[in-house]
Order: sequence, then C-alpha cells, then structure tokens
Amino acid sequence: MDWATQPDPFRRYPGADLVRLPLPEPGRSLPHWRLYALGDVPAEPLSLEALSLFFRYALSLTAWKRFHETTWSLRANPSSGNLHPTEGYAVLPAIERLGDTPAVYHYAPKEHALERRAILDAQAWSGLRAPFPQGSFLAGLASVHWREAWKYGERAFRYCQHDAGHALATLRIAAAALGWGLVLLDEVGNEFIARLLGLSRGDDYGGAEREEPELLVRVGPDLSSTCRRGLNESATGAGARWSGKANTLSPEHGVEWLAIDEVARATRRSGNAPITEDFSGFPTEEELFGTPVRHGLLTAEQAILGRRSAVAMDGATALSQEAFFRMLARLIPVRGRRSMPWDSIPWRPRIHLGLFVHRVEGLPRGLYALARDPGKIAALQAAMRREFRWQRPPACPAGLPLYLLQEGDYRALAATVSCGQEIAGAGAFSLGMIADYMDSLSTHGAAFYRNLFWEAGMVGQVLYLEAEEAGIRSTGIGCYFDDPVHEVFGISSRAWQSLYHFTVGGPVEDARLTTLPAYDGLRGG
Ligand SMILES: Cc1cc2nc3c(=O)[nH]c(=O)nc-3n(C[C@H](O)[C@H](O)[C@H](O)COP(=O)(O)O)c2cc1C
Repeated sequence: MDWATQPDPFRRYPGADLVRLPLPEPGRSLPHWRLYALGDVPAEPLSLEALSLFFRYALSLTAWKRFHETTWSLRANPSSGNLHPTEGYAVLPAIERLGDTPAVYHYAPKEHALERRAILDAQAWSGLRAPFPQGSFLAGLASVHWREAWKYGERAFRYCQHDAGHALATLRIAAAALGWGLVLLDEVGNEFIARLLGLSRGDDYGGAEREEPELLVRVGPDLSSTCRRGLNESATGAGARWSGKANTLSPEHGVEWLAIDEVARATRRSGNAPITEDFSGFPTEEELFGTPVRHGLLTAEQAILGRRSAVAMDGATALSQEAFFRMLARLIPVRGRRSMPWDSIPWRPRIHLGLFVHRVEGLPRGLYALARDPGKIAALQAAMRREFRWQRPPACPAGLPLYLLQEGDYRALAATVSCGQEIAGAGAFSLGMIADYMDSLSTHGAAFYRNLFWEAGMVGQVLYLEAEEAGIRSTGIGCYFDDPVHEVFGISSRAWQSLYHFTVGGPVEDARLTTLPAYDGLRGG
C-alpha cells in the first residue's frame, strides 16, 4: 500500500456553511428490542435535535483509537478496512436553528455537523416532497470508490456496496429509534440522485475524487411501506443555489482502476418501475420467534454506539440456542413485511445463509442453511449437495427456516474459506451469504447487482447489533474465497453466488489500543 496517498477519511465541502448538530445527551433509555417492535416508539417531530440523533446513530463517529503515535476514528456504521467510502446526504425542509429554507446537506461525521451544499427553491422542495407526509425528508448515500480502491483495487466496488448496505441499515435503525419509518426509493435512477445531491456538479469537484450516487431513501413519521412511491423527479435542480467545493482526499492516485468505472456504469439504474412483491407467505412474528422478544440487556444507544467488530475471537465462548435462533429470526421479514429493517426494502430476500456452526449450546456442530425466503427452500435444496439432511433442529421456532445440512467440525474449513482468517473458525458460528444471483439479475436487471450487496450489508448490520445484545461480538468478512464456499455447499451453477461472510463469537480485545471518546468537548452543541 502506498501510505503517502492514503485517502482522507473525511470529505468536506469548504465554502459551504457548516451547521453543528447538538450532540445528544448520553443515556437515552429506549431499549434495543423496541427498535424492532414497530409502532411501539412514538414518532418524534422533525427538529434539529431529532436530526442530530438520526445522524448520531446512523453515521457518526463512535470512538477514536490510539496505538503509539497513531490515532484513527471508528463509526456507527462499519466499513471494510475502516476506509469509509460512504458519504451521507439529506434534503431537508426549513428547520429551526438549521436553516430557514429547504436545503441539501452533506453530513460531516468528524464535526457531527451538516454542510449546506444548496439552498433549494421553495417551489422545487414542495414539488419534491408533495407526495410525502408532513415532517418527512430525503436522505442519500454515495460512495467514494477511491477510498476503497486505494487499498483493495478492483475489489473496491463490491466493498463500497457492502458498506452502503450497512449504512442503509444504520439509517433505518436510527429512524426506528425516533419512531420514524424509512423506505428505499428503488425506482429512482442514479442520475437523478447525482443531480439532487450535487454529485454531478463537475466544477465543485475539480480534481477531487468524485462520488458515485448509490441510493435515496425517504424518512419520516407515518411511512407505511405502501406510501413509498411518487417522488416528483422533475421538481429538482431548478433555482438551487450551490456552495462549497469538495476537498481532495489523496494528493495523487498511483493506479486508476478502470474496471471499477466499468462495473459502476453497468450497474447504474436509469429509473424504473418500483418493485412490488408479495410477503404473505412469510412467517408471523410468533412463528418466527416463538415468543416475540420484549426484553433485552441493552438500550438502543448501547447497542448502536457500542457496536464494534471483533478483531479476534476467543475460540471458547458458546452461544445459547435461544440467542442463536433470535439472531437468525431477526434476519427474516415477517408476514406483511412489518419488520425492521426489512420494511425499508421492497424485494423478497435474495440473500440466504450457509452457516458453519461451531459452538451453539445444544446444537450439533456442522453446516446449516437459513433460507431467508421460505419460498426458496426447495430451490436451495436443489442447488446444494444431494446428501445434505435438511433436518430442522428440534427446538427451532416453527417459522424459522433453519436446517442442519451435515454434522461435523468445520472450524478449520470456515477459516480457510474466509481467506485464512482465524476469526471465522474461532467464533460461535460463521457464515457465507449465498445470493440467488442470476435469477435476481434477470428479474430486476443489472442494477440489482448493487442491491444484492446492500441486502448482504443489511444482514450483517443486524447481526452486528444482535451480537452486542447477546454480549458477544461479530465481524464482517469481505475477504473470502467464493469457489471453495460453493464447493462446501455443493453449489456448481452460477445461479447462486457467495457475496459476503460474517463471523459471530466471543471477542478478544486488543489491550494495546487506547480508546478515546468520539466527540470530546462537543457536547451541548
Ligand atoms: C464489508 C466489510 C468487510 C469487512 N471485512 C473484514 C475482513 O475481511 N476481516 C476483518 O477482520 N474485518 C473485516 N471487516 C471489519 C472492519 O475492519 C471494521 O468494520 C472496521 O475496522 C471498523 O471497525 P468497527 O466495525 O469496529 O467500527 C469488514 C467490515 C465490512 C463492513
């Protein structure tokens, strides 16, 4: 790696007004489990304080780490290599102490502040938000490919997509903590997002690294998943007054990764009909969990701001069956799609899990499968090894589509298929996320390649928080070998494709590191 060109993790737009968000007082008592009990958290009105909490839980810094002379920051959203390619934006109405006109803002995580990139014409804003309920707004995500490419080369594109998926989940989860809904506007094209957020304004970037538009969501109270449509795309742009020029993140780029530009182009959405799928065949909350979860150890704040990736696993901690089943149940949409965060995306799950269970009390070690769409069990059975048992663990809740495939000690193999990383073998379980790949692309088009990674990132984010709740930790594993994983599960066709790995277990802390607060001295505004 070329350390001299290491990209700045913080994008800024010097010249744009910076409005600091008042740092929320710590100690909010909302229990973590209530994030998932939809309708249970009263909706907060849209205010500067509410917006501050939204960004704090979604994209803010949560700690600084120090080792000798080196310090680096960590955030609520995880990121491959901690390189943080994901930039957050919001398009907001006039809000007291933020701005007296509708405007486009960029979120600056280091300052926990919003940079006002554009003041919108009042008519453009009312045209844009006309179909939405009062108090709702838009948030967007973009990727700086270079941040990941600097370290990972061509692999950067998919890591950016994983990270965007994690961030989509952190946005949804942050909204849930405010009693708000959040829906992905999947019908919106990349070009529109670029225009709306100012990413297409070449002069504002000059020689600075460009950002690839990823996605746009609508956030706010009273967002049922059915009132998602109808963004008025013609309303944007006119009369906007822009300010700020992007900072340069690296003094130079040693290599230009043309394949990244190519895949970005090939997967851009030009705007299409929104996806509408039927979730009536999914289990109810009772069927999925046995007893719905109405208690827990952590507050939402503790889980969200305390979340950390394990850097090593202890090779000893076992997980209770109850916690294991609960974690997996959180990954399945309930009937009618009323479960967080799955209410924010309109498609039925395309990511299924091939699990390596090492240490779950009462469960035999071995390979398992979780079909996140119960309608895909037969297709998965047909795609995998014929000799697999497809046997339901006796204590498993009736609606959880979990199956034992084959007993055995897979600790060494799990590490091997995760680029030899020991964390995959030394936890309680690890997994490969197996995408229903070709059918997704032929059904929804090439742009859906990105959505598959977003869904994988969302699965990962739920596992991160559930691991915190269970008193253990987890880690996303972007470095894995896909062909050997396919071989383990007997997948020989290109129809199914492993897209991401994850490991969950008892962590070993790195005692050499000092942890420092995220925003020392910022509290109180
Ligand atoms: C998409 C993705 C891929 C990752 N891949 C790996 C990996 O292969 N090995 C690893 O040890 N950590 C991996 N991580 C964990 C990151 O290193 C971690 O998120 C980052 O250092 C920030 O730390 P935090 O999660 O504690 O905030 C990955 C994280 C993400 C989101």
